[in-house]
Amino acid sequence: MGQVITSADQLDFTAQDIPSMPLPTDVLMVRPLHYSVDYVINPHMADQVGKVDKIVANNEWELVRSLFEQVGLNVNIIEDQNGLPDMVFCANQSLPYIDEDGKQHVFMSIMHADQRKEEVPYIEQWYRQHGYEMHYLDEDKISDFEGCGDAIWHTGRRLLWGGYGYRSSLEAYETISETFDIPIIALELVDESFYHLDTCLCILDKNTALIYPDAFTQQGLAMINQMFDTIIKASKYEAEELFACNASCPDGRNVIIQQGCTDVNKNLRDNGFSVHEVSTYEFLKSGGSVFCMKMLLWS
Ligand code: ARG
Repeated sequence: MGQVITSADQLDFTAQDIPSMPLPTDVLMVRPLHYSVDYVINPHMADQVGKVDKIVANNEWELVRSLFEQVGLNVNIIEDQNGLPDMVFCANQSLPYIDEDGKQHVFMSIMHADQRKEEVPYIEQWYRQHGYEMHYLDEDKISDFEGCGDAIWHTGRRLLWGGYGYRSSLEAYETISETFDIPIIALELVDESFYHLDTCLCILDKNTALIYPDAFTQQGLAMINQMFDTIIKASKYEAEELFACNASCPDGRNVIIQQGCTDVNKNLRDNGFSVHEVSTYEFLKSGGSVFCMKMLLWS
């Protein structure tokens, strides 16, 4: 099954043809005591250096955490580190997986920016303590891979969507698809405001996706259109300013999303989803929202 797909004519399956994968049971979050914007590594961070209100950020994070609990996930917490102001965005340092025998695996990331490289060992230590089988990419061959910021599981399927272009390299997906023996649909990202796949694609359930279309190539859009029956499109304002596509729908039903995404939220409700709005304004200053503030896990 290992295969990296880069064009619609290579897609000879539908989501129903792919073996099923359990829904996540757990979430990992990093407490943002040292969160701030100290440097600029994406366009959202420009003009935000030094502007994070740490107390407000902590309160927002607590509400995000309680929403994940409310939708039934068990929350695991790692303490953050002084000097690693982006560590809270724990979608980025790893890519976990549960195999068909129920064994837990994880690929550790190769962060694109030097400022974030030291985050990885702290997250790695947590996986080691929890008995995961560890996997690594060859740093001599692959320059970067930012975990679930760019690698997003298709809900309930052993199928991965992989963004590349800004923070992750296409080559990373060759190794991952071979190791996990799964197909990966690779999507090139073409707008630097949408530098991670999780800023422009949110998989809601196995048939439904929320996207910001202009972040993709025509080829990418063709693959998305072929794999999902229903596609909700976010406006530029809701996608870029409010990170609508950085929502999280861990169970195919409940969507946790930055507050104020009026059009997207109406569309979500019209399609039968339950919407839970939360303020992540302090995290938007760094170019992240709900999806990036957690890692979904299987226990
Ligand atoms: N400031 C962080 C960075 O640029 C934000 C990361 C957001 N994470 C995400 N998965 N989109 O790396």
